Amino acid sequence: MKGFYVSAYEHLKEQMLAGPKVWLVTGVAGFIGSNLLEALLRLDQRVIGLDNYATGSRQNLEQVRELVGPGQWKNFRQIEGDIRDPDTCQRASQGVNYVLHQAALGSVPRSIANPADFHASNVTGFLNVLVAARDSGTKRLVYASSSAVYGDHPELPKVEDKIGRCLSPYAATKRANELYADVFAGCYQMETIGLRYFNVFGPRQDPNGSYAAVIPKWIAAMMRNEPIHINGDGETTRDFCYVANVVQANLLAATVQKPEAINEIYNVAVCARTSLNQLFGLLRGKLLPDYPHLKDCSPVYCDFRPGDVRHSEADISKAERFLGYKPSHTVQQGLSKALDWYRQHL
Ligand SMILES: NC(=O)c1ccc[n+]([C@@H]2O[C@H](COP(=O)([O-])OP(=O)(O)OC[C@H]3O[C@@H](n4cnc5c(N)ncnc54)[C@H](O)[C@@H]3O)[C@@H](O)[C@H]2O)c1
Repeated sequence: MKGFYVSAYEHLKEQMLAGPKVWLVTGVAGFIGSNLLEALLRLDQRVIGLDNYATGSRQNLEQVRELVGPGQWKNFRQIEGDIRDPDTCQRASQGVNYVLHQAALGSVPRSIANPADFHASNVTGFLNVLVAARDSGTKRLVYASSSAVYGDHPELPKVEDKIGRCLSPYAATKRANELYADVFAGCYQMETIGLRYFNVFGPRQDPNGSYAAVIPKWIAAMMRNEPIHINGDGETTRDFCYVANVVQANLLAATVQKPEAINEIYNVAVCARTSLNQLFGLLRGKLLPDYPHLKDCSPVYCDFRPGDVRHSEADISKAERFLGYKPSHTVQQGLSKALDWYRQHL
């Protein structure tokens, strides 16, 4: 399949090319932030990027520069700074039409190890970005929430208004973002939209370190002939979402005009469940022709990880209905594209 028909998005891209705007992308040097930057620059938008390089890298920005070329790269202004500092947020927000807020610390286990650090960047930092957007009269702020907010709610697929108890400090910080965004909409008539991402993957996602996400970590391990560890029995499921779908959701959310669509929260995923055992099989199958050592590769099963939810699958009908969101890439299509990138860059 060559991808779904993306009419609302195609229409939006034409409009954006015809009338460039100024966008602030926080966390611009990270995985999702750098993909947003690339998409915006390709659409001739002006972008201000804020990052403190806690987990993002200059290499990610360098890659975007090479991909878009000098003509579009000149529309990017980079600020090295920290969202924990209110003045930095104020400075970055001047003259901005839309904010796409991605800066945060990620990873459930890392948040269990360092809850105060997570609170400072993910909650205090978010509040600083909100206040700065309010003060500068920014049109709308779209922010990255997470499927972690569903916590222990058992129902599948996940519907936006049914959430359970948070299972980690990370989840609590993302839920706090949603609460603050709602309060700012009420108290200051701000326009905000929260996007609950479900296990995003794609180019520039960091495969290294003990807190790496499962897809880049396994791809790197398979290529390097290192052991693959599965936490639990491998029947844990996730709704893996290729990053192009997340970019699409951000741009649609930033620009949607229907009043009923604004100041809402949306799941961003593809609405498909893949178990870790299935993911292992898919990656191994796709890499086997180039990496014959994988013929004898099987996973090593370990203990379940505290704080992880067992199953995750999104109902995406709200985003489809209100934003015109239609995933352009299935998990399989996304994995093929991601693998192309890792083959070139690892
Ligand atoms: N990747 C996923 O599967 C996923 C899932 C759900 C939610 N999210 C959310 O999406 C957003 C982007 O995630 P990502 O996967 O691109 O992670 P990432 O770590 O690659 O990017 C986050 C970026 O934010 C920057 N940052 C962190 N703290 C900062 C601070 N105090 N000041 C300035 N910059 C700071 C980092 O340096 C990094 O560049 C995050 O908010 C994350 O919680 C991601």
